Amino acid sequence: MKALVLAGGSGTRLRPFSYSMPKQLIPIANTPVLVHVLDSVRELGVSEVGVIVGDRGHEIEAVLGDGARLGVRVTYIPQDAPRGLAHTVSIARDFLGDDDFVMYLGDNMLPDGVAEIAEEFTRKRPAAQVVVHKVPDPRSFGVAELGPDGEVLRLVEKPPQPRSDMALIGVYFFTAAIHEAVAAIAPSARGELEITDAVQWLVASGADVRASLYDGYWKDTGRVEDVLECNNHLLDGLAPRVDGQVDADSVLVGQVVIEAGARVVRSRIEGPALIGAGTVVQDSHVGPYTSVGRDCAVTDSRLEGSIALDEASVTGVRGLRDSLIGRAASIGTTGPGTDHHCLVVGDHTRVEVAA
Ligand code: DAU
Repeated sequence: MKALVLAGGSGTRLRPFSYSMPKQLIPIANTPVLVHVLDSVRELGVSEVGVIVGDRGHEIEAVLGDGARLGVRVTYIPQDAPRGLAHTVSIARDFLGDDDFVMYLGDNMLPDGVAEIAEEFTRKRPAAQVVVHKVPDPRSFGVAELGPDGEVLRLVEKPPQPRSDMALIGVYFFTAAIHEAVAAIAPSARGELEITDAVQWLVASGADVRASLYDGYWKDTGRVEDVLECNNHLLDGLAPRVDGQVDADSVLVGQVVIEAGARVVRSRIEGPALIGAGTVVQDSHVGPYTSVGRDCAVTDSRLEGSIALDEASVTGVRGLRDSLIGRAASIGTTGPGTDHHCLVVGDHTRVEVAA
């Protein structure tokens, strides 16, 4: 079996971060979502991975390289524009050949793994097997109506009035039968070739299409609040480790990771929390549920439930919570005796100050 991992697309829901980086590289527990995805693919025993990339492909390539570090072989497949999930299957045709493959959306996190579902697909080999999860509001997902034995009766992309609460969650197992379906469908109302429509085409043509319920933790990391929530979930499973320096005036509580080259000075780190390599935390209280990237500086601050990307700095701000701080962003104070805020805010940025 091969894998097709999708890391193109536009990521408008993750602005302003997606202005400067592919959304699939947002770190969750200090590791890019896409690296979590490749870990999950490797756990299926798959080593040949095609990665669909858009105009930011070079940044993805800089992180994944040829895949060897992650135990897979990566072939990059450029997509000229986000023309839809089914379009990516058609441009990957040469890479896929007639092999079975797992298609994995590069912004979806299924940390409990899909090994059992992959095994079921290999054993029963239906034309296609989709992975579903019960969600309270399925209107922003592909939705599956299922028969009593997990057979798919109908699939609809983002229905205004869903007839089931079973959402497609970004992992699909396909035989080569999908290629005929992809060639047969037309673009949807949003102008994309939908994989949901291609699988529905298989259903309508009488092919065996099955669904498996994934009941572990799942998150589409498409929005900032999803990224923060997913970060909390992964930090909960953190194995404590101190490879950096912690001075005698600092306290670490609970599951805390201090990476090599990080320094903690006169501070309290409350787990679960992750302090990245080369970061300096001084006179501060960090955590719980916080991950700080590499080469950051947190000074005289209080940071909780948040993610700081590499090289960010926070100085003199006591009370930052539920925040996502971008690469090399700096948050500080206006200085003694002042009573105003000073903001340099990029496009589509959100700032909330205490009233
Ligand atoms: O998250 C699950 C949902 O993902 C499913 O329930 C839907 O049925 C499915 O259509 C998809 O919906 P989204 O609207 O959330 O898809 P999104 O545009 O976010 O794209 C998913 C991933 O695929 C993302 O990593 C970007 C990548 N992509 C997307 C498109 C449209 C590409 O690589 N190329 C593309 O042309």
